[in-house]
Amino acid sequence: MEVCPVTGRGLPPVRHWPALDLHGTDFDPVLAELMRQGPLTRIKLPNGDGWAWLVTRYDDVRAVTNDPRFSRKLVADHDVTRLAPHFIPVDGAVGFEDPPDHTRLRRSVAPAFTTRGVERLRAKARAMLDELVDGILADGPPADLTERLLAPFPLAVVCELMGVPASDRPKMHEWTNLILSSAQGVERSQRAKEDMCAYFADLLAQPRDDGGDADGVESVLGLLGGAIADGEITASEAVGLALLIQIGGEAVTNNAGNMLYILLTRPELLERLREDPAARPRAVDELLRYIPHRSAVGLSRIALEDVEVAGTVIAKGEAVYVSYLAANRDPEVFADPEDVVLDRSPNPHVSFGYGPHYCVGAMLARLESELLVDAFCDRFPGLRLAVPAAEVPFRRGALIRGPQALPVTW
Ligand code: HEM
Repeated sequence: MEVCPVTGRGLPPVRHWPALDLHGTDFDPVLAELMRQGPLTRIKLPNGDGWAWLVTRYDDVRAVTNDPRFSRKLVADHDVTRLAPHFIPVDGAVGFEDPPDHTRLRRSVAPAFTTRGVERLRAKARAMLDELVDGILADGPPADLTERLLAPFPLAVVCELMGVPASDRPKMHEWTNLILSSAQGVERSQRAKEDMCAYFADLLAQPRDDGGDADGVESVLGLLGGAIADGEITASEAVGLALLIQIGGEAVTNNAGNMLYILLTRPELLERLREDPAARPRAVDELLRYIPHRSAVGLSRIALEDVEVAGTVIAKGEAVYVSYLAANRDPEVFADPEDVVLDRSPNPHVSFGYGPHYCVGAMLARLESELLVDAFCDRFPGLRLAVPAAEVPFRRGALIRGPQALPVTW
């Protein structure tokens, strides 16, 4: 048995965690097994080197993600065991920075993500959503809601937030898909990343309009341009940040696709929300908690010194993953974690992460999800799947899980 070099205690075995193509919102059986094994286990993912620690309990996940003794910056220089075959971080990307640089980068775009910044988008987002729904209704059933609604809507909203012209939306969508999947080859992914970086570098180099919109709120690119001009961030940091926000923006497509899949396969939930609009915001949070948003785990952290977690020492230099999905099912925090309890309250889920890397777009994602749930409930009377649930195709080989298509009728 391997022993811990610090405590001399035995180490848990390393569990291989293969890439699984799961259907619907099925919870990953390997993660369930790891959760049963204990608070701290060791995993080996399909790519990268060696093994990493995995933390699954809610309190431990919050402790690790909020502890400056675990670094994200160091991850960029290590070939840590990981799910993604091709992940090559962009220089200065916010996901791979530690405070104080990380704080400085986040500060540069913060005004776009405050309540006021996000709320300024509400009316525009609703109008864009209405237009898409009008088109679907005009064409009549059946329709693939992934293609017609769940892909174009978050894309339109994030482009609006960024200040990307509507005519460039298809290009952004194509690059995002290529960057997030290596299905068309690692080189194609890398090229898409370079193309998107060049695109943002070009937009940021153009003279900017300082005024913002009618409320004086600037787009993300406007804010980044200002921060470069003020010497707060470098041009390459701005590009890295723009890229992550643009890509992150499309996360709602998959997440809301899972939401709709749950509502369509459990019609009693959809009925409840149709009848009770006031219940929808809380229901959105519960669905966010329940949805297994991603495959396996995301980005690791590396210990800057020996740190004790759940009674075991994570030694300096070792990599550690947290599972937000597992934390969201911790029975110590969530009663009946395997059930969707629409009016669960309080619901302190960690679907948007925790600590300094907490999702930049959380408020925007909530807003979009609420608007989409309103549309499902109010604009499509009799909405139902057009194929048996088992035949709804789910993405394969994907980092983020969700329906490839959602064929519906009404
Ligand atoms: C339902 C949809 C979404 C979910 C479930 C989600 C979830 C997450 C999670 C779990 C993290 C990582 C926390 C960590 O590294 O520990 C994250 C980070 C991030 N998300 Fe989201 N997200 C969503 C939507 C969005 C949207 C709409 C945007 C942009 C408009 C966005 C932009 C980002 C960025 C830039 C980061 C990196 C933050 C950092 O490292 O400081 N996300 N998100």
